[in-house]
Amino acid sequence: ESAPIKDQFGRILKDLRISVIDQCNFRCTYCMPKEIFGEDYVFLSEKELLSFEEILRLAKVFAHLGVEKIRITGGEPLMRRNLEELIAELSEIPGIKDIALTTNAVFLPKKAKKLKDAGLKRVNISLDAIEDDVFKEINGKGVVARPVLKGIEAAKEAGLGIKINMVVKQGMNDSQILPMARYFKGKDIILRFIEFMDVGNHNGWDFKNVISKKDIIRTIDKEMPIEPAEENYYGEVASRYRYKDGGGEIGVISSVTDSFCGTCTRIRLSADGKLYTCLFASDGFDIREKMRHDELSDIELEQEMRSLWGRRKDRYSEERSEQKQRNRKKIEMSYIGG
Ligand code: GTP
Ligand code: 5AD
Ligand code: SF4
Ligand code: SF4
Repeated sequence: ESAPIKDQFGRILKDLRISVIDQCNFRCTYCMPKEIFGEDYVFLSEKELLSFEEILRLAKVFAHLGVEKIRITGGEPLMRRNLEELIAELSEIPGIKDIALTTNAVFLPKKAKKLKDAGLKRVNISLDAIEDDVFKEINGKGVVARPVLKGIEAAKEAGLGIKINMVVKQGMNDSQILPMARYFKGKDIILRFIEFMDVGNHNGWDFKNVISKKDIIRTIDKEMPIEPAEENYYGEVASRYRYKDGGGEIGVISSVTDSFCGTCTRIRLSADGKLYTCLFASDGFDIREKMRHDELSDIELEQEMRSLWGRRKDRYSEERSEQKQRNRKKIEMSYIGG
């Protein structure tokens, strides 16, 4: 094992987020609005996608560089066929301590047990509203909450750890902050509120629609008193709060009003093999080309990644608050998986 590698600001590389597909069965208004992602939208072709072998190969190189945690994302990652086979192989890699999945849960009743048996440890499930009328509007497919709740149940039965992700957007689902908190309190499931971010080019982001961490905390605390809790691991994205009455905990992810670039240890791999050193990067590094065309060896791939991370200076969320970076072209959330 080599020493941890550091970027220009001394941040080490610890997590790899792998997007396995750019398609999704939902059309959430803030992520894949159906006006843009319609019938004729061209998704990545089978050939463009990295194969499981390619993903595995890269993951091994990253593990060698110090990566300990892998998160599988999409689009909707469960739309990638036989995903459990990839997870089984990833979980065999020496040094990988945690494998998690971010999903909308609709396919979990079919998949949860297989995924758990393959070595998946936990799932983060997106659910933006508990009331059907609100949720139907958001997911753009008229899906009610029930199938997602079924997916949560399946994950629980399979023994997977569960967190719920709720993107909070003014005028979209602010009415759901308290109903969601009440619903998940005491259920041993961590609900995390996420500030609406300016990812992608089509979600019509405006600071006016951001409900701040402070406001979210105040809203919850008024009805169900909470207090801050210690972070679970270095560089945790969510700030944790626990209910004073022992009803469990919630989290708030505040990329907009209280950014966390200083401890960002994450690199992202897109489904077509581009590496991004920031969620808001405009250009990826084409590692697929290095494998397929240049036929680099593992050692050469490792050199490429080492120098990519070594050059890294990304701190987009901090720059956003400094008003520096506004209208640059960004990658789509459904393409990079958050
Ligand atoms: P845990 O391992 O359970 O802590 O997961 P996570 O919160 O790191 O991952 P998840 O996929 O559940 O992401 C939750 C939210 O945090 C999503 O909205 C992500 O886009 C956002 N997020 C995750 N990592 C970053 C990051 O490095 N920068 C920014 N700005 N947002 C991030
Ligand atoms: N702002 C914040 N979170 C977002 N997500 C998707 N788009 C946005 C956005 N604009 C969330 C999804 C999922 C996670 C991967 O990212 O809801 O939970
Ligand atoms: Fe699909 Fe998640 Fe994007 Fe919604 S937020 S469209 S579920 S990838
Ligand atoms: Fe990391 Fe970029 Fe997110 Fe900052 S904005 S925490 S650098 S991914």
